[in-house]
Amino acid sequence: MTERFDGIEACVFDAYGTMFDVHSAVARCRDDFGLEVEPAQIMSDVWRTKQLSYSWLRSLMGPDHYVPFWQVTGDALDFALETAFPGGPPTGLRQALMDSYRTLDTYPEVVGVLQRLKAAGMKTAILSNGSPDMLESVCESTGCAPLLDAVLSVDELGVFKPDPRVYRLAVDRLGVSGPAAISFQSSNAWDAAAASAFGFRVAWCNRFGQARERLPGSPDIELKTLEPLPAIVGAI
Ligand code: LAC
Repeated sequence: MTERFDGIEACVFDAYGTMFDVHSAVARCRDDFGLEVEPAQIMSDVWRTKQLSYSWLRSLMGPDHYVPFWQVTGDALDFALETAFPGGPPTGLRQALMDSYRTLDTYPEVVGVLQRLKAAGMKTAILSNGSPDMLESVCESTGCAPLLDAVLSVDELGVFKPDPRVYRLAVDRLGVSGPAAISFQSSNAWDAAAASAFGFRVAWCNRFGQARERLPGSPDIELKTLEPLPAIVGAI
């Protein structure tokens, strides 16, 4: 495992699960709708799992079946709600959860890490499956927007990660000298593996203590949070 990445020209972040806590939507709505902690967590997990699998499946089904991640997120929520509430969900819960998704919480260290990277003159960006409107809202509401040089969405390509064209978009848009000049951070192990297979330097932010994926590509470094990133990329 590497301790430090040399020659980094930009730090690029996955959004959901890495910067923004996807489970904060359900956690916020729990009390208002009288949901118990454990079933609510299961529902949140099903929502996230389906959201990711629908993105992969739509990509496999071909370009005619691409829809923005906002719709994928809503479809996945409908599946999760029907599973959790066979008789129908509480009135207003779907809307409240979708509204919350536009203003998810950041993980505690995220804003400070972005501030330190920017103070050291590092280029910063998001590269996400998220559709531009949902990314714009969450970046504004969390205060991340002024700390990012670019917010790149797969939407202009019409295909989701881990298609390599998505990782190529970051190289092209950020004007860096090549994939190895990008330090890519993701808490999604499959995204970290694919970004590494593409040629990025990769920090896997393993927030949930997951086992590593058995996929092509392997992250250069494994972190528990993003806190050490500025030191790893020499932005100190
Ligand atoms: C994203 C999803 C994969 O932000 O978390 O791209």
